[in-house]
Order: sequence, then structure tokens, then C-alpha cells
Amino acid sequence: MSASDHPDVPPIEPELQAALERAAAEAKAPDARHPEPLALVIFGASGDLASRKILPALAKLAARGSLPEHFALVGVARREMGDEEFRKLCLEVDGARDNPRWAELSQCFRYVAGDYAELDTFGRLTNVLSEVDVNCGTEGNRVYYLATIPDLFATVARGLAAYKANDPGPGGTFARLVVEKPFGTDLASSRRLDLDLHDCFREEQIFRIDHYMGKETVQNVLALRFANTIFEPIWNRRYVDHVQVTVAEEIGVEHRGNFYESAGALRDIVQNHVMQVLSLTLMEPPSSMDPNAIRDEKVKLLRSVVIPSVDQEVDHVVRAQYVRGVVDGEEVLGYREEEGVDPNSTTETYVAMHLQVDNWRWAGVPLFVRTGKRLKKRETEVSMVFQRPPHLPFAGQLTRELQPDSLTLRIQPDEGISLSFGAKVPGPSFRVRSVAMDFSYREAFPGGTAEAYERLLLDAMAGDATLFIRSDEVQQAWQIVAPIQQSFAEGEPPLARYPAGSWGPVEADRLIEATGRHWRNP
Ligand code: BG6
Repeated sequence: MSASDHPDVPPIEPELQAALERAAAEAKAPDARHPEPLALVIFGASGDLASRKILPALAKLAARGSLPEHFALVGVARREMGDEEFRKLCLEVDGARDNPRWAELSQCFRYVAGDYAELDTFGRLTNVLSEVDVNCGTEGNRVYYLATIPDLFATVARGLAAYKANDPGPGGTFARLVVEKPFGTDLASSRRLDLDLHDCFREEQIFRIDHYMGKETVQNVLALRFANTIFEPIWNRRYVDHVQVTVAEEIGVEHRGNFYESAGALRDIVQNHVMQVLSLTLMEPPSSMDPNAIRDEKVKLLRSVVIPSVDQEVDHVVRAQYVRGVVDGEEVLGYREEEGVDPNSTTETYVAMHLQVDNWRWAGVPLFVRTGKRLKKRETEVSMVFQRPPHLPFAGQLTRELQPDSLTLRIQPDEGISLSFGAKVPGPSFRVRSVAMDFSYREAFPGGTAEAYERLLLDAMAGDATLFIRSDEVQQAWQIVAPIQQSFAEGEPPLARYPAGSWGPVEADRLIEATGRHWRNP
């Protein structure tokens, strides 16, 4: 006998029953969102980003049943190839094998070869889109993904607008543009890019990707802070002594030396990924999970970051480059010896910064950020390091091994959260040392998590802009790094060196030690 059959339990209303069933189904579904019918157009479809990230993510979404029932994929690129060859390419990417749904969908995969500078390319594209609306039921809805070099973003947007493809096709309700960083190379060029894009698409149609926002652990910052009562009360200047953000990579510039020469760690990581992680970690609670409620708070936080003058930057920033060293037992080249890199290059592969946030919650709490390539190990994390207790009733030598309490959000690779605090060492004396309490994503959720690109593609298709970067956020992040860019261009601070496989230059240690603190894992 079920509860609802029991004579003492009133029968469940049919609507309530339906709502409960829906909630149970949603809880079970790996992706609780289902985009409307649509055609996804990838510009740069024959390129690296498409074959390494976008197509495999789509194949995995297909396997999970998350793509719309009526879906078409249209590849656009300069390379000559027919529909069949494009289909074959799509069916060979990671995640495509043993994927019957992807194979089934491939009947609606089309390819348009053409130069973006020629309007005719867009004419042919719009013809193909009209065809798939009829043959594949995509109903005039479009998502355009710009997987091209950034110099072509504006050209593609203009080409689409010339054929009114910036609006939905007949019967459709949306046309969205997905763009990926870099959003300009400095404040001025990012403003220009925005103006160009806004000439053709409204801000609500533009979905700017920062793949860090697609990482589960980055999103978990919101859950940790706003779904619990125990952390938020101590998330402020009264309890937090300082904050550390580390984005450490073990890899060097790989085959991207040429690109990296004009990027450097400041543009490649700090302006985007670091600012995103920072703003989620330090922002005020949003009133809801509405995309703009969250993005408003993020931008407000970024506006509170103190922007020192160019002269002051010298004392607050360290820039450095890796030289030869040993990573994982293997000798590796220095940056200047990498392929595509100028042997006299002054591009930084490492940046450390001491920032301040000037608002009620964070006034006076220093913020230390560091990022670099060819560091000792891959590790991205945010640590809130708490103040020491006002008075320790133990003899000094008994607390020598006691570090300040800290809460560390491990973003990757060992995703989780650890709380470090003092505990009594068993034994007759009252020795106290730091111990850690660990939460591991892998152990708690053994099913694994979706790749960042899967999540972001699905959100863009479903029209959820929460994890995408709004124009004002991009601009504000550039405002923060602008004086640093300028001082780097003027040769300040002097470029430091660090051996590959180390934790960075001694100058970065001095930067934090000058305030009486130290990096968590030197
Ligand atoms: C990219 C940078 O945005 O992020 C790369 O251009 C960097 O240089 C990469 O290696 C790091 O991403 P992840 O997800 O491996 O931390």
C-alpha cells in the first residue's frame, strides 16, 4: 500500500503529483534544459577550436540526449570541402564513436566553403539555413559560433547582418552570436569590437564565452557561498586576512608560441579567467539566479577593484618569463627557445599581483593573484586565508606548525574544497598543528561532470546567459589591467626569470612577503 492509498493520508492533488514527478525527473536528468529546435553555425569549422572542443562537446551533448530533437549543424570555413567530408570530420571527433544519436543527427550537417570577406559566402549560408529550416525542422532559430581568429569577428557579424541573418529566420524566435576571448587586446580595441558587434547584434544576443565559467567548480563558488549559512557570515574583512588566487599551469606555450608572443599571461589569463573567478568569489549576494542579477554583482565587484596608477603598479605587480628547467623529471626549453617565440622576447609568462578591493566588505583585505606557465604543477585555486585568533593561550613553540585557518576552493585538477584548521596533535603536550578537512568532487559525485564547453554550448542554445560575460564586465576587466599593460609596455617592472618547474620567481615571493604573508604552496 502506498502512502496515498493509506486511509489516514489525504490523496495527493493531481497537480502536486505532476509537479513532484517533474521535479523527480529533473533531478535525474543529467541536463535539465532542452533547447528549442535550432541550427548551429560554426564559423571556423575546419579549425583547431572546432575539432578539439566544440564538435566533441556537441557529440557528447547528443549522446546525452541534450541536443534539440530538430537540430542542424552548419560548418563555415575557407577550406574547400563538401557536406559529406564535413560529416566525416564531425563523425571522427572525440566522443563521436558509438554515438548513434550524433550519427543520426549528421544527416542535417551541412558545410559552406567561403571567404568571410566576400558577402556571397553569407548569401550561400542563408540559403543553406532556409533549406535546413524546411528539411530539418530548425524553425528559423540560429546560434552562430565564432570559432575564428578574433580579427574576423566584426567581418562575420557584418556579413550576417547584410543578409538579415542577425535576426531569426521565418518563424524563428532567436538568433544568437557566441564569441570567445580574446575580446580585444586592450581597453580601446575591446570597445571597438563591442561597437562593431553592437552594430549588428543587440547585447542580449551576444554570448561571450570564458570557458572558466563553464567549470563546475567555478559555478560551485555560488553554491558554497549562497546555499549555506556557515560560510557567508565570515566572508568579509572581519574574518578574512587575505585572499589568494592561483592559476598555475604545468604546460608551456606548446605550439602556440606565435599567438602567445602578442598575448602574455596578463591578457591570456588575468584579464579574463582570473577576473571571472575573483568576481564570483568576492561579489555581493545576488537577489536571484537571474543572469543579470548575477552579472550586475560581478561587475559591481570589478568596479570596486582599486586601479593603481601606472607608477604604483611597479610595487604591486611582478612579471616574469620561464627559463630552462625540469618539469615532471623532464628537461624543458625556456620560453625564448620555444618555436615561434622571439629569442629576445619580453612577453611575460608569469604575473603576480597585489590588488585591493575598495568596498564595505573587503576594504583593507589584500588580494594576491598569480598565474604562470611551466610552473611546478597544474593547480587552480582560490584560498580565503582567515585571521589568526586574537589570543593563543598555548606556549609559542606548541603552535609553530599552526598556519592561519583557510578555506580553499580547488578549481582544478583535483576539484574540491578543503578547510584547514588547527587540531591538537595526540600526545601529552598541547601541540597544535594545521589539519585539513576535504571535500572531493570526484568522491561525492562519482558520475563525473560535463566539460566546460558542453555546459556553455548547451546554455547558449537554451538562451541562458548567466555564465556568459556581459560587455560591461569585459570593459571593466580591461580597465583594471590597462595601467599594468601600460607599465609593461614601458618596461616596468623589470622582467624577472624563473626556472621551468618552479613556483615562479623570487620577486613574487617578495611581493607577498613584504606584507608579512606567504604563498600557500611555495
Ligand atoms: C586559455 C589560455 O584561455 O586557457 C591558455 O589561452 C590556457 O593559454 C588555458 O592554457 C587554460 O585553461 P584550463 O581550462 O586548462 O585551465
